[in-house]
Amino acid sequence: MDLDDAISGRRSTRDYTEQAVDEPSIRRLFDAAVHAPSASNGQPWTFTVVRSQILLDRISDAAKVHMLATLPAGPQFDRQRLSLGDPDFHIFYHAPVLILISGIAQRPWVVEDCALAAENLMLAAHGDGLGTCWIGYAQGYLNTAEGKATLGLPPASVPVAPIIVGYPRAKAAPVARKEPEVRWIG
Ligand SMILES: Cc1cc2nc3c(=O)[nH]c(=O)nc-3n(C[C@H](O)[C@H](O)[C@H](O)COP(=O)(O)O)c2cc1C
Repeated sequence: MDLDDAISGRRSTRDYTEQAVDEPSIRRLFDAAVHAPSASNGQPWTFTVVRSQILLDRISDAAKVHMLATLPAGPQFDRQRLSLGDPDFHIFYHAPVLILISGIAQRPWVVEDCALAAENLMLAAHGDGLGTCWIGYAQGYLNTAEGKATLGLPPASVPVAPIIVGYPRAKAAPVARKEPEVRWIG
């Protein structure tokens, strides 16, 4: 796929078919992810793959409770409060795979490094006909001691990018972009 098409055509996918994603297809995504730049070439990322729907259901439920308990007060969060309180809302949209990119806490720029790997992974997935969506709703819970233990992550790890992966049921609609705010100095 042409690079411009990949960058402009990738969309967050929230509706997946039941088709499983086979292991070679998942592994290919890591090959793309690890080509991301990282501070001092530290490559501090770990990829945790979850395919058990029972485990994903459990994390979704726990993450919703955690988010509701930690969401700041105020009407600007009413929409989130409503969806998080809906028992039918699944934060992973029943996607067949979750890939969590996490890093090692002590390293500086660990979040930036993992986020760059995440974008590479999402673009590669798009190029392979897979859909993805970064699930920020999972981050707070996965960053707790309980969340890390659920995935067998060491206590010092930093969960950065929970990304769901699967085959899209339909092409996602375009999402409007704002004009970039650019300041030319000198
Ligand atoms: C840090 C981050 C957190 C996000 N969290 C969620 C989320 O919890 N649930 C969700 O459905 N989409 C989530 N998204 C996807 C954004 O809503 C999406 O990227 C944005 O609306 C632009 O649409 P596009 O990805 O199709 O271009 C997240 C994206 C990022 C980068």
